[in-house]
Amino acid sequence: MNEYVIETDNLTKRFKQVTAVDGLDLRIRRGEIFGLLGPDGAGKTTTIRVLCAIMEPTEGSVRVAGFDTVRESEEIKKRIGYMPQQFSLYGDLTVLENLIFFADIFGVERGEREKRIARLLEFARMTKFKKRRAAHLSGGMQKKLALACTLIHQPQILFLDEPTTGVDPVSRREFWDILTELHLQGVTLFVSTPYMDEAERCSRVGLMFEGGLIICDAPERIKSLVEGDLLELRPDRLREAARAIGGLPGVLEVQTYGDLLHVFVDDAQRRIQTIQEVLSEAGISVRGLRQTRPRMEEAFISLIRKRIEGR
Ligand SMILES: Nc1ncnc2c1ncn2[C@@H]1O[C@H](COP(=O)(O)OP(=O)(O)OP(=O)(O)O)[C@@H](O)[C@H]1O
Ligand SMILES: [Mg+2]
Repeated sequence: MNEYVIETDNLTKRFKQVTAVDGLDLRIRRGEIFGLLGPDGAGKTTTIRVLCAIMEPTEGSVRVAGFDTVRESEEIKKRIGYMPQQFSLYGDLTVLENLIFFADIFGVERGEREKRIARLLEFARMTKFKKRRAAHLSGGMQKKLALACTLIHQPQILFLDEPTTGVDPVSRREFWDILTELHLQGVTLFVSTPYMDEAERCSRVGLMFEGGLIICDAPERIKSLVEGDLLELRPDRLREAARAIGGLPGVLEVQTYGDLLHVFVDDAQRRIQTIQEVLSEAGISVRGLRQTRPRMEEAFISLIRKRIEGR
C-alpha cells in the first residue's frame, strides 16, 4: 500500500462566495500525529469533513487509506474514526449505554462488544463512571467518552476536530496522554486545535489561515524559522513600551502576550541595554526582562503577520 494514508491534491471547497479550503496539498504518513492549527474560520472543520468523506470537495482529489473520498466513501468510513467539533453524546444515557449505542451503530459483534467496551473504559480511565449519565460528566470526561465512542470500531485513522476546546488544562493534558497512547499503538491521528501548545505534541503541524496552509513541518523546524533572539519582559505600561521599543535599531518584531511583551531582536546581547535605557527614560518600569526561546505560538504569530503584511 501507498506510504501515505492521507493524500490531497489541490483540495478546494467553496460555499457560494466563501472559499473555505483553498488548494490544499497534504501528505500524511501512517502513524503520524498531524496537527491542523489555525484561528476561527481558517477552514479546519471543512478540511476534516472532506477528509472524512462527509462532504465532497469542489475541486481536487482526496485519498484516505488508499480510497477516493468521493467514489469509495463507504470503504473509508469503515476505517476511520471521526470526532466532530460538536460531538453529540446522549445526555440521558449512561457512559456504558452510550458506548453500547455506538457499538450498535458501527455493527460491533455482540461477542466482541463487552470486551471492547471494558478495554475502552479502562483506556479512557472511566471505568468508575460507567453508570453515570453523560449529561452529568465534566466537560473533560465528556470529551473522553466521545473519544471512546469514536474508537469502538477500532479505526486505524482518527480525525479529531478541536477535541480539547473548552476543556481545563489538566483534562487537556490527560486527553493528550490518551492520544499519545493511541499513537504508540500505531493509529494515525489528524487533530485540529486552536491551542498552539498542543502543536508541540504533534509529529508535524500545518498552520492553516484563510483556507490555505502557511506552513507544514515538524514543530522544531517551524520554531527554528523565527528570526533573531527573543526577549521577554513585563512592562507596567504595555502599549507605550511596545511603541518605544518597536522603532529601535535591531528590533525585528514586537508581540504582546497578555501583560508580557515579546521582542524579537537581531542580537539579544547587543540590544538589551538600549531597550532598558529607552524604557527607563520613558518612565516605564519593567519586571522580568530575560532572553527566552521562541515557542510555536510566537512562530505562528510571526508567520501569519508576515503573510498579512506581504499582501
Ligand atoms: N456549510 C457552510 N456554508 C457556508 N459557509 C461555510 C459552511 N461551513 C463553513 N463555512 C465557512 O467556511 C469558512 C471556514 O469554516 P470552518 O468551519 O471550516 O473553519 P474552522 O477553522 O473549523 O473554524 P473554527 O475554529 O471556528 O471551528 C468560514 O468562513 C465559514 O463561515
Ligand atoms: Mg471548526
